[in-house]
Amino acid sequence: MYNVRNVTDDIVWVGASDRRLALFENIFPIPRGVSYNSYVLLDEKTVLLDTVDAGVAGQFFENLEHVLGGRKLDYLVVNHMEPDHCAMIGDIVRRYPEVQVVGNAKTFTMMKQFFGTDFAERAVTVKEGDTLSSGKHTLHFVMAPMVHWPEAMVTYDEMDKVLFSADGFGTFGALNGNIFADEVDFDRDWLDDARRYYTNIVGKYGASVQALLKKAAGLDIAVICPLHGPVWRENLDYILEKYQKWSTYESEDQAVVIMYASMYGNTASAADALAGRLAAKGVKKIAVYDVSNTHVSELISEIFRASHLVFAAPTYNAGIYPVMDNLLSDMKALAVQKKTVALMENGTWAAMTAKQMREKLSELKDMTILDAQVTVKSSMAADQADELEAFADAIVESM
Ligand code: FEO
Repeated sequence: MYNVRNVTDDIVWVGASDRRLALFENIFPIPRGVSYNSYVLLDEKTVLLDTVDAGVAGQFFENLEHVLGGRKLDYLVVNHMEPDHCAMIGDIVRRYPEVQVVGNAKTFTMMKQFFGTDFAERAVTVKEGDTLSSGKHTLHFVMAPMVHWPEAMVTYDEMDKVLFSADGFGTFGALNGNIFADEVDFDRDWLDDARRYYTNIVGKYGASVQALLKKAAGLDIAVICPLHGPVWRENLDYILEKYQKWSTYESEDQAVVIMYASMYGNTASAADALAGRLAAKGVKKIAVYDVSNTHVSELISEIFRASHLVFAAPTYNAGIYPVMDNLLSDMKALAVQKKTVALMENGTWAAMTAKQMREKLSELKDMTILDAQVTVKSSMAADQADELEAFADAIVESM
């Protein structure tokens, strides 16, 4: 059964949701599923803006055929060539043989790499500032390199003031009939997934997102249509402010997040004891995570959110415990910046992980790593109570 919704009188959402996929990009758990958004502009000419992942192809084509109602498809605009959006290009060309495919030079290079053809006989190559008229509507093409791939671009419809923002402003989570952000409790139900999506998928490219936000500021935007998650038609400042913070690596919350790795529970006990001391000193909304039992994408999201981070880990093979090492490597890969960090270590005979974590974190930009740190030898001893209090005091003072 077709399942479509009008975004404006002329623009229709024809996307679909996947609640069966376990791992997005075969990495990221998506317990709430994911949507692949695609949009049709019905004008004198018909325009499809991006396709979908192969996993939802059946629903997508049912939607598309219903909306076109027997009309031919004139244009397919390809804003992004990652396969979760471009997988159906070949099928579109086969079903709608007159369609012209619109992309930039890099789009067509990638098309050839993925599909063995760049559809040269039907390709319309556009560059920054080019426009395409569909009749009443004029589409403007704005390049958005590295948001989140080099070929990414966004498309702006001047008449309806709609920005088709590609991966920008996207989020994990299936759409449940309510395709608009103002129809859901975004802050309660979607923000964590939006942050996890942004920080893990696009987090490395903050400067590129900033460049796109500056271009977007010059457009009169009433509606943002991303390729994943809800469409924004109200309170755009809410999501723009989040993007401003995330892309400049500013923390959303003045908050402490404690992340520990623990082989037998002793480092966990020390981390919990710290959390208790911090709470007693008035710190609220402390979050504590076991890095072995929390997906790294959730930890990265929390790291972007919070101003103050504590890492606690055992020494392992004279190095950093592997899951903690992986987390710190991911932080570097995603360009985490501007955090205050405190370190706890454990070592039964040669504790050295704090030194190595310090060195690794020092490679990140604008990090404040507190001198105060705690060393646990096997388990935290009762006579370390004063030391733990002093460590908690140092964290509180840094806030
Ligand atoms: Fe949703 Fe970069 O693809």
